[in-house]
Amino acid sequence: MDGKLLEGQLAYYRARAEEYDDWFLRRGRHDRGPEWNRRWFSELEDIRQELGRFGPTGRVLELACGTGLWTIELARHATSVTAVDASPEVLGINRARLREAGHETVVRYVEADLFDWRPDATYDAVFFGFWISHVPPERFEAFWELVRSALRPGGRVFFVDSLGAETADEKERRSRNPHDPTTVRRINDGREFRIVKVFYDPLNLERRLAGLGWSVSVHTTDHLLYGCGERLA
Ligand SMILES: C[S@@+](CC[C@H](N)C(=O)[O-])C[C@H]1O[C@@H](n2cnc3c(N)ncnc32)[C@H](O)[C@@H]1O
Repeated sequence: MDGKLLEGQLAYYRARAEEYDDWFLRRGRHDRGPEWNRRWFSELEDIRQELGRFGPTGRVLELACGTGLWTIELARHATSVTAVDASPEVLGINRARLREAGHETVVRYVEADLFDWRPDATYDAVFFGFWISHVPPERFEAFWELVRSALRPGGRVFFVDSLGAETADEKERRSRNPHDPTTVRRINDGREFRIVKVFYDPLNLERRLAGLGWSVSVHTTDHLLYGCGERLA
């Protein structure tokens, strides 16, 4: 059973809420130097533009919304965003970010565990950023069934995630067992947590999703992977 692992993973993101953006924004110990950082921000910008072309319009569901780094993008396009996360700490930061940007009325927040939660409506699009890598492999199909159940007929999905381990230290912290998709993460106060982190090969992911009834194309940048698509007819 992976209950303890998933509890630990959520505990990690709750404890890390205040420092999460430092990773995304390359501050403090996540600053990898001007050249690397420039490349990272340029990749993120490319994906933001892809997301804009995808057009997350209408009613949008964001799974594992975190501190709002993507919620703010979705709110620029959508009529409404339902943003789900199990951490009250990240939801607070998300709400403050969206309020500051004048978008708070567009977003409905739901505090829920995605491994239990069932959508209470159907949506035009579902988005998740840096989440599929945290879904245990044995829950992959159930997760995509959740996405399916959240979409109206013809609804679409967009996701972004890490392509691989970022640093030698991160590689070092992964389990030596190739069938164990866990890694150990440390937060600024030194506490360590074991979490799930699965890296997907883009082509295999496309094929696997096709086998589950999805037409999804997966693309990569140097450090990131993103995919978009819909259910096969
Ligand atoms: C890597 S962060 C991604 C946040 C955001 N999507 C982004 O890209 O910035 C993963 C998020 O998943 C949330 N999370 C962890 N376990 C969860 C669970 N069981 N149910 C719902 N959310 C969970 C964490 O609170 C965290 O906000």
